[in-house]
Amino acid sequence: MLWQPPLPPRYTAMSDEQLAKAITSRKEQLGSNLVILGHHYQQDDVIQFADFTGDSFKLSQLAAQRVKQAGAKHVVFAGVHFMAESADILTPDNVTVSLPDLGAGCSMADMADHDDTNDAWQQITNALGNATRVIPICYMNCTAAIKAFCGQHGGAVCTSSNCDKIFRWALAGGDEPLKENQDVKILFLPDQHLGRNTAAALGYDPVTAMAVWDPKHPEPLSGLDEDDLRRVTFLLWKGHCSVHKLFRPEHVDQIRAQWPGVKVIVHPECCYEVAQKADMTGSTEGIIKAIQAAPPGSRWAVGTEVHMVNRLANESAKRGVTVRMLSDCQCLCTTMYRINMPHLLWTLDNLAEGNVVNQIKVDPEVKHWALIALNRMLKITAQPDTPSVLVPQN
Ligand code: 13P
Ligand code: SF4
Repeated sequence: MLWQPPLPPRYTAMSDEQLAKAITSRKEQLGSNLVILGHHYQQDDVIQFADFTGDSFKLSQLAAQRVKQAGAKHVVFAGVHFMAESADILTPDNVTVSLPDLGAGCSMADMADHDDTNDAWQQITNALGNATRVIPICYMNCTAAIKAFCGQHGGAVCTSSNCDKIFRWALAGGDEPLKENQDVKILFLPDQHLGRNTAAALGYDPVTAMAVWDPKHPEPLSGLDEDDLRRVTFLLWKGHCSVHKLFRPEHVDQIRAQWPGVKVIVHPECCYEVAQKADMTGSTEGIIKAIQAAPPGSRWAVGTEVHMVNRLANESAKRGVTVRMLSDCQCLCTTMYRINMPHLLWTLDNLAEGNVVNQIKVDPEVKHWALIALNRMLKITAQPDTPSVLVPQN
């Protein structure tokens, strides 16, 4: 996690009303030079200033489009570090991307380190030899360096909206047809749960077709023997989201007992046991679309971050659709929560005065390869804006 120096005291002394007024006037002043992006997990008082809201990938794509159409010069990303990096990768070099609080990282993204990934790759490919093609696929929630690694080794990025499509592409050999008798495997990182849930929805057995790769395991091959390695199709990096892991299978049982007929929809970062008990899994955008299409009178329990669920609950109540959190646990993404009105105003004040603060700039070589991995994803997913909502295979 990067360190965010404290803000000048006047920002923390302002009331919410003063902050909101000042942000509005800075936005007006910066006009079409500025695009503010807000991830669905942001707090209401930040999201109200977003020009666009969306899931992690949709936002970066929108930034790229908006920059092109309106000639914007500055993107302010109300989200977390890997999202701002993706926006920097997808926008021209003369556009700046700022993250209002540098402490807004993602614990999951930090679980896949470049050296560990390289080491895993060497071990796996040496053990398997040329008879097996290993395709590295990374979830959007990882550093630009990991995206670049995937780009350099014939792999691609995926999001929680399109992971199934990317897996199908990789299982067919990726960009090159498989050679005769050549086997294929996916090294998926950093979220073991998204990997397991998606592979299971494609019909793969979590026990026999998947193994966890623990980069911190003291033994070679992460403690797997070569037979295990040959048997499985998916090597799932031992990473997880500390927010989504709070949802437990018993929460699904409890809500079904309390609310007969409830539909349970969870983010695929939840563990397999939860995803299996749910009616559907979907990205943040997928969850929102599923509930927006729900008939009046329906009831939904949602397993994802609390700010998004509360907002969805308030909006849906107007249509007679009842939405609540899957559990009473405080499933709050504490790093997303770091972005608040004082940090947003400080960022905009500086931009208006010609200073770019908290700029997120990806190294050009890393950007080149990460873009290859992102572009592969775009090519594979003909309709990247249509999030997949998966129904678990029971
Ligand atoms: P989405 O891409 O579904 O918005 O997920 C991002 C995220 O960080 C979920 O924890
Ligand atoms: Fe990362 Fe989890 Fe927060 Fe998403 S909810 S940004 S995966 S820590």
